[in-house]
Amino acid sequence: MAGILEKRQSLHRRLATQQEMSDELRSQLGRMQALANIGMISAMIAHEMNNILTPLGNYAYLAMKHPEDGELTRKALEKTTANSRRAAKILDSMLAMANGGPRKMDWHSVKTMIEQIFSCMARDFSKDQIKVVVEVDDELTVFAEDIALQQVLMNMILNARRAMLPKGGTLTISAQQNTGSMRIEITDTGCGIERCDLEKIFQPFYTTKTESSQAERHGAGLGLAFCKRVVEAHNGAISVDSQPGRGTTFRISLPTP
Ligand SMILES: Nc1ncnc2c1ncn2[C@@H]1O[C@H](COP(=O)(O)OP(=O)(O)OP(=O)(O)O)[C@@H](O)[C@H]1O
Ligand SMILES: [Mg+2]
Repeated sequence: MAGILEKRQSLHRRLATQQEMSDELRSQLGRMQALANIGMISAMIAHEMNNILTPLGNYAYLAMKHPEDGELTRKALEKTTANSRRAAKILDSMLAMANGGPRKMDWHSVKTMIEQIFSCMARDFSKDQIKVVVEVDDELTVFAEDIALQQVLMNMILNARRAMLPKGGTLTISAQQNTGSMRIEITDTGCGIERCDLEKIFQPFYTTKTESSQAERHGAGLGLAFCKRVVEAHNGAISVDSQPGRGTTFRISLPTP
């Protein structure tokens, strides 16, 4: 009898120790997940800052190179100031995202948002033989955090541009209000994506842009992972259709409240 009791007590002690170990492991896992999240958010902040620093530097360089052209210098400095303000807003928005989700949701004109992206990017698409077509009604509005959604569209536009180099092609951006949701599409006539790669493109750090030149930097593989995260934080969805050698369409669908 005494032997059975002793065995039982020892089993209880072992069970309690195992429970403590399992609790400790669970809390370690939680801490590691939080750290991984911080790491990912930091990488994404760096990525978006990079996207905005390039045009910022280009505008400042333009002003410095042509001090005699007062009008050009003024415009370039205006853009530099606007882009610096934009960089600060992007930081705010991303920190809010790290802390749960978009905070500054409001109605915004889709067309104005797109115009602002092109103005901020400081890239001449026609120089790369790329025709840009924007098929968006003037009165169309979307409920979103504008700065975050603009970064999403900028990433997709930059990807589309790169996919069409060096041949050129057509970039079409369209938007439609459907029942309960706003749909934005970005279509290019570029290299397309192989079917087997389609499921990988939204994974962080997946990139096929491993070669860099003076004009084009190599990829970090964070653009689409960022887009997915932002769209999902808006309770929206993102999808892609692609035909290798013919082109790609990215679709964003955002709920209308
Ligand atoms: N429009 C597109 N046409 C063809 N391939 C695309 C397109 N958009 C994305 N891809 C593919 O998806 C990959 C991942 O895109 P993502 O934007 O996440 O990273 P990246 O462009 O490689 O680097 P970066 O972090 O600088 O954006 C790209 O490397 C490319 O292979
Ligand atoms: Mg990209």
